[in-house]
Amino acid sequence: MIRKKWCNEVTESDVGTLIKLTGWVFRRRDHGGLIFIDLRDRSGIIQAVLSPDYSFNAHQRGHELRNEYVVSILGEVRRRPEGTENPNIETGTIEVYVKEISVLNESITLPFTIEDAADASESLRLKYRYLDLRRPDLQKNLIIRHKTVKMIRDFLDKEGFLEIETPMLTKSTPEGARDFLVPSRLSPGHFYALPQSPQLFKQILMVAGFDRYFQIVKCFRDEDLRADRQPEFTQVDLEMSFVEREDIIHVIEKMLCEVFKKVLHTQLNRPFPILTYQEAMERFGNDKPDLRFGRALKTVEDLVRGSSFKVFLDTLSSGGTVKGINAKGMATLSRKEIDDLTLLAQSFGAKGLAWIKVKNGFESPITKFFPEGVLRNIADRLDAQRGDLLLFVADKEKVANDVLSRIRLDLGKRLNLIKEGFYFTWIVDFPLFEWDDEEGRFIAMHHPFTSPLDEDIKIFFESTDSDFKNPKSELSKIRAKAYDIVLNGYEIGGGSIRIYKNVIQKKMFEILGISDEEAHIKFGFLLEALQYGAPPHGGIALGLDRLLMLMVGSNTIRDVIAFPKTQRAACLMSGAPSPATQKQLKELNIRVDLNF
Ligand code: AMO
Ligand code: AMP
Repeated sequence: MIRKKWCNEVTESDVGTLIKLTGWVFRRRDHGGLIFIDLRDRSGIIQAVLSPDYSFNAHQRGHELRNEYVVSILGEVRRRPEGTENPNIETGTIEVYVKEISVLNESITLPFTIEDAADASESLRLKYRYLDLRRPDLQKNLIIRHKTVKMIRDFLDKEGFLEIETPMLTKSTPEGARDFLVPSRLSPGHFYALPQSPQLFKQILMVAGFDRYFQIVKCFRDEDLRADRQPEFTQVDLEMSFVEREDIIHVIEKMLCEVFKKVLHTQLNRPFPILTYQEAMERFGNDKPDLRFGRALKTVEDLVRGSSFKVFLDTLSSGGTVKGINAKGMATLSRKEIDDLTLLAQSFGAKGLAWIKVKNGFESPITKFFPEGVLRNIADRLDAQRGDLLLFVADKEKVANDVLSRIRLDLGKRLNLIKEGFYFTWIVDFPLFEWDDEEGRFIAMHHPFTSPLDEDIKIFFESTDSDFKNPKSELSKIRAKAYDIVLNGYEIGGGSIRIYKNVIQKKMFEILGISDEEAHIKFGFLLEALQYGAPPHGGIALGLDRLLMLMVGSNTIRDVIAFPKTQRAACLMSGAPSPATQKQLKELNIRVDLNF
């Protein structure tokens, strides 16, 4: 009996049987007497042997084979002779002696070999994405993506969530990015926006009484692209009624534990740690701390007041701060190396980088401004020991935090502090508002449907016109029922408990400077719906691509997306975006003016 199998499914228990395999010629080695082919399909690789003694015809055909020809073979599974096993592949102890081989299709010469594709330029790989995708690594990534999505669906189904689709041709959802617009032919001069998220629709599904919704959904944001950002990406989006923050946290942790266990065979520890936004900023300088290593930032504001160092004192008197970090064991750095570190800090936006080496005493051009006792207190605060290098930035809090958080990541790499594994954390109690200097008003830090914390609702309601325009007003202190989930220094998800009462939503728009009319035009349908018995509700969206990127150990989400776009938001394979024809434009009542 002939069995058809995937390459990787053939095992030693098949020795002696005849099997049929199909796949691509990954490598061909002609040893004169014997021709070896590494046959590849999506499951893996197996060695096929073309021997003139076993099948004269098959061996003859072997001369015609080239890389990436598509073949089907019929052959006998044999154990490899001792000493010829290949431990690098799963089928390394066996091989297939080919009785019959047929070429199902040929391939022209490839722009890069599949084997060395990872070394080809990314633009070439994206142009020939179907060849790039033949790489075992990328195949593995997409298989993991499939399994993850399947586990998520199964899990959420079990938990009583319903998967409900929401429209792609819709109105703008305020998630902070630019919209992708789609012109309407039937309503000249009108445009749909592609959803930045299903935010408004999922809230409306709660008003409609579905109680638990989820969707694995494409979202579109026209923003600056980076390794962890694509113009279209996928969210695991969910919303629940009659819940508090803890319920959302519970469901997501349980889901991630199950996914990591079933897909990666990794046990995650629950509960994940929770940091308030304020703690995260104080200790790590940003709201997506990489907890694979310690090395917290420390404020030394109170201590440096005892010095006469003008740079620090001036910064403090103008409302700034001074924070430091311990570069453990780096007191051996040369002056030149410290200068380089200073340049790095400056490239992150610092004005300078003050440093103190802890040796037998303290060494630094600035020690003369510091009494010995103050230096000792600073060293204590930063847990310094002999051999350490202490680094300081004096600046506005935002800048000092930003610079030091990036220096911290740099030190993590430099000092090899980054541990293996998955370090999750929740960040909670975000500010409800952040001040927008350019616009001279507050904007929503998450989105305008996020509920204030109950403790802060009084300030919220008591705020008046003058507070709305004052960055230092009490409004800046209001915390939100918003939370992010962070993994290894990446924000992999965010959500909030929503405003479900119209009075609160109205006040929110008032503070944000959104007029009744504007609110009505933009989100009238949601505001209207909130009047008809909206239940308390909340939700979250995980960035599926980012989660997968970290699961497979990559540093770009392009590695987990079948057809990603470039930095310039182009698809090099299909050639999108491309000009529209005159006929299309005319139907849409659109005239293109590149000099506009
Ligand atoms: P938020 O805007 O935080 O929340 O988005 C949720 C998560 O989506 C991921 N993400 C991205 N991934 C790749 N490319 C992008 N351009 C991109 N933008 C965002 C991030 C992010 O944490 N509607 C709310 C959720 C809610 O409140 O329930 C929302 O979209 O991992
Ligand atoms: P200066 O007085 O400009 O020569 O600076 C003395 C030292 O303080 C140098 O090492 C600078 O890099 C450092 N320095 C200057 N400005 C800052 C700042 N804002 N924060 C931390 N260090 C600074």
